[in-house]
Amino acid sequence: MRSLTNLMVTGGAGFIGSNFIRHLFSLGEFTGKIINVDKLTYAGNLENLSDVEKRWGNSRYFFEKVDICDFASIKAILLEHEVDTIVHFAAESHVDRSIFGPRDFIETNVIGTFTLLEAARAIWGERQDSLFHHVSTDEVYGSLGESGRFTESSPYSPRSPYSATKAASDHLVRAYHHTYGLAVTLSNCSNNFGPYQFPEKLVPLMILNIFEGKPLPVYGDGMNVRDWLYVEDHSSALWLILNRGRTGDTYNLGGDNEWHNIDLVNLLCEKIASMRGLPPDHYKSLVTFVKDRPGHDRRYAIDSSRLKEELGWKRKASFESCIQKTIEWYAANMQWVNRVKSGEYQEWLRTNYADR
Ligand code: NAD
Ligand code: DAU
Repeated sequence: MRSLTNLMVTGGAGFIGSNFIRHLFSLGEFTGKIINVDKLTYAGNLENLSDVEKRWGNSRYFFEKVDICDFASIKAILLEHEVDTIVHFAAESHVDRSIFGPRDFIETNVIGTFTLLEAARAIWGERQDSLFHHVSTDEVYGSLGESGRFTESSPYSPRSPYSATKAASDHLVRAYHHTYGLAVTLSNCSNNFGPYQFPEKLVPLMILNIFEGKPLPVYGDGMNVRDWLYVEDHSSALWLILNRGRTGDTYNLGGDNEWHNIDLVNLLCEKIASMRGLPPDHYKSLVTFVKDRPGHDRRYAIDSSRLKEELGWKRKASFESCIQKTIEWYAANMQWVNRVKSGEYQEWLRTNYADR
């Protein structure tokens, strides 16, 4: 029986991690505490959790500014807080950045995961009331053709530096289970969207560019396909896996919701036009086809049958209503947007993109 009382959440100041922490505190059935371990890179922002900090800070919520590659600090936190569960989100997560410079991806995604595993092994050994849950991506499986979906037994075929490092970390997590008996679970999820997503990713980038009347840079022919999942549905799936996922197993997670990039961008244009009382096509002229991402995976699609059948997971709200909520969240949180986009991010854009 898992304890699930003292959770270390790595990368909790990022997009999915912060939504997950908020989700857990909204659940009556979660009564434990959370220690958010985050290095606060450009993608980590404590403001994402200011409401949680205000309500639960230093009683059930604790923050530690620590790099997951720092073995001594991780071990000390595990001991001090008597951590029984690690939910590991921390990563370099943006594919484009991994193409411009893979080193940080190797360090955080591979060495960082290895360091966490070593610390967990040192303290827990083979304890079965503890759990190391590894949050991973559908990108480890590579790229699909017109048909088919990734299952948990699809062969690994990572094709970007980002997905190669996530694949390496998945293999390490499984190896620690098989070799050392560490209690682990894994999840491989499709593209998330929702509040607090850093505006370098497709959905928030397009929403904010539409707000500002700026060009909408669509890579290649815009016909690449992604399977979109609302971040809240990711959190609910993770909670189920932590509670009832089979030790050693992997759960694929997707939205059954495939979109060609160009159709999704057009949908965002239509939604924002409608909110502003403008004709549906008003913003579509902003679409600009730009040079393709090198090695751009053509299509991802996920088969979540195991998660649905074994654990009873299902998506909560409709895609369209979640997209609407997301647009409204960005419109209402422009101060947050301006803060996260200032500084380091502007420098990065100037260095790497001539067109943004
Ligand atoms: P994100 O980039 O928004 O957040 C990553 C967080 O990790 C940030 O808070 C950052 O400060 C922190 N971090 C980075 N390096 C660190 C280090 N060395 N030590 C401690 N903290 C560090 O990422 P996200 O989109 O929230 O993704 C979270 C996880 O989910 C990642 O593992 C990613 O691979 C996985 N994932 C993401 C998606 C998606 O669509 N965003 C889909 C599937 C899986
Ligand atoms: O599939 C899960 C993965 O989804 C996660 O593991 C990653 O962490 C997450 O970043 C995401 O990766 P993608 O590369 O799919 O997401 P991104 O938002 O960068 O791009 C989505 C699609 O949109 C992709 O086909 C590339 C395209 N795109 C992206 C950007 C930023 C554009 O056409 N223009 C853009 O400006």
